[in-house]
Amino acid sequence: MSKVTDEELNVATWKIPSPLAIIGSSSQGEYNGMTASWITQINMDPLLIVVGIDNKSFTHKLMTKNDFFSINLFSSNYTKVFVKFSKPAVYSQGYLNKEPITLTQNKIPIFDNAIVWFELQKVNVEDLGTHSLYTGKVIDCKTIETEERVAYMGDTRMKYGGVPRGGH
Ligand SMILES: Cc1cc2nc3c(=O)[nH]c(=O)nc-3n(C[C@H](O)[C@H](O)[C@H](O)COP(=O)(O)O)c2cc1C
Repeated sequence: MSKVTDEELNVATWKIPSPLAIIGSSSQGEYNGMTASWITQINMDPLLIVVGIDNKSFTHKLMTKNDFFSINLFSSNYTKVFVKFSKPAVYSQGYLNKEPITLTQNKIPIFDNAIVWFELQKVNVEDLGTHSLYTGKVIDCKTIETEERVAYMGDTRMKYGGVPRGGH
C-alpha cells in the first residue's frame, strides 16, 4: 500500500478549483469578515450552501452564537480584498477593515463592494475535526454585476487547504 506524503496531499488538494469569498458574521455587537474558499451549493430545494469554517477562527465563534451569516463574492479585478480578511477584521461603524458594509435585518454584514451576495440561515453544523461544516439556507441574495466574472482562487497566488500547518 502506498503511503502518501503531506506534500503530495497538499499539492493534490491545492489543485481542486476553489471559489473565493468573504464570510460575514456577527453576534451581540461583534462583527467579522473572513476570506474563505470551501464553499459550494449542496441542495436545490431548499437551496442550501455549505461552508467549511476553521474551529479556531473568530468567525466560527460568532457563527456558533448566531443563526445567520453571509457569503460575499467580488470581481476578479478586486482580489486584494481577500488579503485584508485573512485575519480577524477591525470593525468601525459601517466598515470592516475599512471596507464599507451594510447590516441586514439580522445584523449580518454584507459588503457594499461585493458583486454577488447571499444571506443564509444556519440549518446544520457538523464538527469534522479541524473545521466545522455549516449548512446554510439562502434567505436572500443579490447579483449587483451580472456581466462581471467573480474572483476565484486561481486569480490569486493564494492557497488554502491540504494538511494542517503550524499556523492552523
Ligand atoms: C485564500 C484563503 C482561503 C481561505 N479559506 C478558508 C476557508 O474556506 N475556511 C476557513 O475556515 N478559513 C479559510 N481561510 C483562513 C481564514 O481566512 C483565516 O484563518 C482567518 O484568519 C480566520 O479569520 P477569523 O479568525 O477572523 O475568523 C482562508 C484563507 C485564505 C488566505
